[in-house]
Amino acid sequence: MATIGGQLISIEGIDGAGKTKQTELLAEKLRQDGAKVITTFEPGGGDDGVLLRQLLASNGAQKQRGDWGPETEALLFTAARRHHLDTCILPAMRQGKVVITDRFADSTRVYQGFGNPRLQLKINQLHELMIGIEPDWTFIIDIPAQLAVSRVTERSGGDARLEAFGEQLEELRQDFITLGRRHEERCRIVDGNRPVNVIANEIFEIVRG
Ligand code: TMP
Repeated sequence: MATIGGQLISIEGIDGAGKTKQTELLAEKLRQDGAKVITTFEPGGGDDGVLLRQLLASNGAQKQRGDWGPETEALLFTAARRHHLDTCILPAMRQGKVVITDRFADSTRVYQGFGNPRLQLKINQLHELMIGIEPDWTFIIDIPAQLAVSRVTERSGGDARLEAFGEQLEELRQDFITLGRRHEERCRIVDGNRPVNVIANEIFEIVRG
């Protein structure tokens, strides 16, 4: 796996899709295969990133939608991403590591740009200006919205943020699928409604090439 150094892989999908588990399993498999790997996440990865996560959690997207407008959220998530890039992702990539991040820019495109093509355009422009890189691979873990809700409810006994998305969750899912199809050069849509190891093997085989 020596040839895989310096890659960025993002794992995306609606809440409850199983991204975090797949991030861990992919890291484990790549390490077993000899790669140097770090895992990270958004929002909140990187030095002091937890402060940014708390900020976002206290007012905006993490709690209930509506407290901050989507433009403000898009700016804040992009600011947090720039910090994540500078303090975590780029240093690791320069050392030849594979960086697997649980969410990246596609989350902003989908969650903040949701149903708003003009804002989607601005989000993409902001991304080009301030972030400037796309993952080598993006895996969109796809599950039906209803399954996502029942998984998250089981895990946490209820989730205000998820409930606030309500019926929009299925539309967010569809937005992820649309985005994945539009960017076939880097995106793979993975059926998340299967045993975790089956999903993990599929992702690993794609990355290994
Ligand atoms: P997570 O713990 O599942 O990663 O939750 C993060 C939440 O933040 C999730 O509801 C999606 C949201 N989010 C955005 O709205 N925009 C973003 O750019 C990112 C990274 C996350």
